[in-house]
Amino acid sequence: MSADQVFHSRSEGIPSEGVKDQYADGKAARTWNKFIGDSNERTQNYKDFLIGLLKKNGCKKVLDTACGTGIDSMMLVNEGFKVVSVDASDKMLKHALKARWERRKDSKYDEWVIEEANWETLPRDIEAFLPNTQFDAVICLGNSFAHLLDEYGDQRMQKMCLRNFAKCLKPGGLLFIDHRNYDAIIDSGATPGHSIYYNCKYPVDIKTSVLVVGGKAQLVALDYCINDDANSEKSEFRLCYFPHKLDKFTAMLDEAFDNRAKHEIYADFKPLSAVPVPSFYIHVLEKARD
Ligand SMILES: C[S@@+](CC[C@H](N)C(=O)[O-])C[C@H]1O[C@@H](n2cnc3c(N)ncnc32)[C@H](O)[C@@H]1O
Repeated sequence: MSADQVFHSRSEGIPSEGVKDQYADGKAARTWNKFIGDSNERTQNYKDFLIGLLKKNGCKKVLDTACGTGIDSMMLVNEGFKVVSVDASDKMLKHALKARWERRKDSKYDEWVIEEANWETLPRDIEAFLPNTQFDAVICLGNSFAHLLDEYGDQRMQKMCLRNFAKCLKPGGLLFIDHRNYDAIIDSGATPGHSIYYNCKYPVDIKTSVLVVGGKAQLVALDYCINDDANSEKSEFRLCYFPHKLDKFTAMLDEAFDNRAKHEIYADFKPLSAVPVPSFYIHVLEKARD
């Protein structure tokens, strides 16, 4: 069922037809950099986790499939990785392109590729600008994948997109993909304002609404309110997510890799057993080598 049949998943100004771009009115895109903080301020835990695993596994060429304003990609470019960044939202890509332009005198940025692509057609979209390319790692982080709602009620599009991520990887390549702890969000009806990824310097209040259809949580709407008291500014936007439950998402991921991938799950970048109620789950899958 389309969420919009029963619940408005869009901020005002986003058309209900066409590309399902929740950032299309530019509201969240404009505020995003405020929410995620300075590009140099990824949390150290996040940086150590991602860069550490990429380096340990010898990854060099990385595809960021939800690059948004480019923040994760820039962290990777700065660390010397060859990065290809894609996103379906031109409103978000605009900020990534501007960030690349502002760094044009830094030679590390010469090879940073930024293009529009949709997870639903990812291998084909990438083939159009980089023929015959597979990656050492694919990332889809920052609670991005949950943006893909379940239009048909059987998660078929989500399954197809996960397969597309797997196709973009070389044998032995790594997929990093995460989701908020929706099990806890559904149980408690609340979402932690602090992000494990960003060092936002403003207080963030997140109002949580859970839409239950036929006894099943189908959609979580998060209304973000970022208070910049010093400038008497308040930024508000709504994003809607499919509430992935850990066990179901784990099985869906394994299936996308034909149940042949090594699959580790981390809780807020730590071993699962170390954090009883994490904010995020991060899955790392290694594609089979043969
Ligand atoms: C929460 S933002 C995260 C951006 C970035 N990774 C970060 O942490 O700042 C999610 C991004 O996913 C993108 N996205 C959502 N659905 C997509 C799709 N089907 N294909 C490609 N990108 C998509 C959105 O446009 C948005 O930029």
